[in-house]
Amino acid sequence: MTTTPQSEATSARRQEYYGRIRNQSLAPLWERYHGLLTPEPVIKSQPFIWYYADVRTSLLEAADVITAKEAERRVLMLENPAFEGQCKALETLFSGLQLIMPGEVAPAHRHTPNALRLILEGSGGYTSVNGEKTYMEYGDYVTTPTWAWHDHGHEGTGPVIWQDILDMPLVHALGPIFHEGYPKDQFPAGASAGDSLRRYGANLRPVGYVNQNANSPIFHYPYAKTREAMEGLAKDSEIDPYFGLKMEFIDPTTGLPSLSTISTFMQRLPKGFMTERYQSTEGAIFTCVEGKGRVRIGDGDKQKVFEFGPKDIWAIPCWSPYRIEADADTYMFVGSDKTVQEKLGLFRERRGNA
Ligand SMILES: [Fe+2]
Repeated sequence: MTTTPQSEATSARRQEYYGRIRNQSLAPLWERYHGLLTPEPVIKSQPFIWYYADVRTSLLEAADVITAKEAERRVLMLENPAFEGQCKALETLFSGLQLIMPGEVAPAHRHTPNALRLILEGSGGYTSVNGEKTYMEYGDYVTTPTWAWHDHGHEGTGPVIWQDILDMPLVHALGPIFHEGYPKDQFPAGASAGDSLRRYGANLRPVGYVNQNANSPIFHYPYAKTREAMEGLAKDSEIDPYFGLKMEFIDPTTGLPSLSTISTFMQRLPKGFMTERYQSTEGAIFTCVEGKGRVRIGDGDKQKVFEFGPKDIWAIPCWSPYRIEADADTYMFVGSDKTVQEKLGLFRERRGNA
């Protein structure tokens, strides 16, 4: 495109003007308007997969480099390639793999971001929430909600590894980050192990119970229980073309998501099934708990295909269409920012082709 002398003069006039107003911390919206308000989401994060075998090797090496106590939390962060150095797996979610060796303790602390764990390896590891211990087995989903004291330990043998997902990037964006260390390694013992699940997880609610915050009073959702329910349901349910069988973890006292800022699901696909193209605004982190298959993220030339097996973790950014194909009966845990978007009236989805 050729520019006329007149338009060059106009351009120079504008640049001179922009330069002057910059000193007043002002900028012209009209220069950025169409980059800010795009017809559809333009997302920075990339679809990506972290293969457990690779991460595990590097994580075990960390045990020689630093103790859990020194590190406070010995975690290798799953950083999206688009967010190198920014501690983010997706725009709103942090994820990492944490290692505890036998006898180690990750000292008690609390913070405002909500956190969850998905246990991926080992036995004998525990999380204590406000003094109530929970022993964690493979596939268990454990929460440490906002501002709850929590510490982790390991009374078994061999490494214990779990995946952390936190809403940290979201809380950072909003501002209210608070963190406090407890003066001792372990928070004083409170209710006996399993108390919250017995009290709130048996289709019973204590008389007079009032939910004190926006999170579930249950902080342990054992995989054995989830799996048993879903195996039974799979026999009695029509399969959803987009989700297979997908169940949400909830606060049983309210029916709301188990955490106020992170939606959590278990999704089951039978062997040989492929989901139809699905697209939504939620940023989602998938972890294969059982089974294997492949996920296709994106359309056409930009499509990425990731083969996955147990414990592999992949990120699907906001508004990325995807299909998942299962080569065996497959269970996947999903953590996403859907509940935040729903609360703000922002969530959208598109089923089928664009
Ligand atoms: Fe923590």
